[in-house]
Amino acid sequence: MNILITGASGGIGGELARSYATSGNHLGLIGRNVSRLNEISSQCKSLGASVTTGQLDITDKTALKAWIEEFDRAHPVNIAIANAGILSTIDSSLNESLNSIDEILCVNFISTLNTIHLVLEGMKKRQSGHVVIISSLSAYRGMPYFPAYSASKSALNTYFEATRGLLRKNGIFTTIICPGFVDTPMISALPVPSILKTHPERAARRIKKAIDRKQHVLDFPFHHRIGMKLLDLMPSRFVDWVMLKFFRL
Ligand SMILES: NC(=O)c1ccc[n+]([C@@H]2O[C@H](COP(=O)([O-])OP(=O)(O)OC[C@H]3O[C@@H](n4cnc5c(N)ncnc54)[C@H](OP(=O)(O)O)[C@@H]3O)[C@@H](O)[C@H]2O)c1
Repeated sequence: MNILITGASGGIGGELARSYATSGNHLGLIGRNVSRLNEISSQCKSLGASVTTGQLDITDKTALKAWIEEFDRAHPVNIAIANAGILSTIDSSLNESLNSIDEILCVNFISTLNTIHLVLEGMKKRQSGHVVIISSLSAYRGMPYFPAYSASKSALNTYFEATRGLLRKNGIFTTIICPGFVDTPMISALPVPSILKTHPERAARRIKKAIDRKQHVLDFPFHHRIGMKLLDLMPSRFVDWVMLKFFRL
């Protein structure tokens, strides 16, 4: 199988790369940090996979298009995992610069859509493929500590729920993954107790299982998802209070 993963130079993407690194699989790994990308690539090769790396910024539309088109010509993509993402937070005075909001939406939403649309060109011709979107549980309920990030993930969920049926008609499966807190560099500065963080290797195992099963949506961990559902049933004033306390805002 040929598997494309963006944001493969670390965190969840790096673990996913390793979990797909078996003999017979060809991996296309995209990220900006070349040394981390090469390290993951070597690990994947030693596990038996062949690898093509793409050191690029997914917001560079021209470079992304050229790289994906060339990769897909050589290795028609079976599974594309749009995982690259960034987070920015606000403080208690609501300071989040417009530039950083712009950047979040550009990386997490627009560039993720670009990635998938570029991969879909080939998949539609072949009438087969599987696209996987790494979203977040914060897509379901905006988090006061990272509102722009939550909005970018909600937008992804809405877009890919909307297109799932048509993609299926074209032979293409869609899986939306909504993790809670995963112990990666992305959230190392957040005031989140360790007990609420999933180990990235475990997260990658769960994600891979959901992809293997062609699940439409995976929300995890269960207790976090249930907690969010319960908050939905409570008065919004109370929920706001709980959220501000949780994030120490
Ligand atoms: N950690 C969590 O708690 C959590 C929870 C829910 C959802 N998620 C989502 O899971 C995904 C992976 O996050 P993570 O926790 O593994 O974070 P991470 O450790 O910070 O990794 C993010 C990855 O995205 C890549 N990336 C970021 N911007 C990029 C760009 N413009 N172009 C190319 N690559 C880019 C980074 O690579 P370079 O630095 O090399 O570019 C890195 O490989 C994200 O979409 C995130 O929103 C994470």
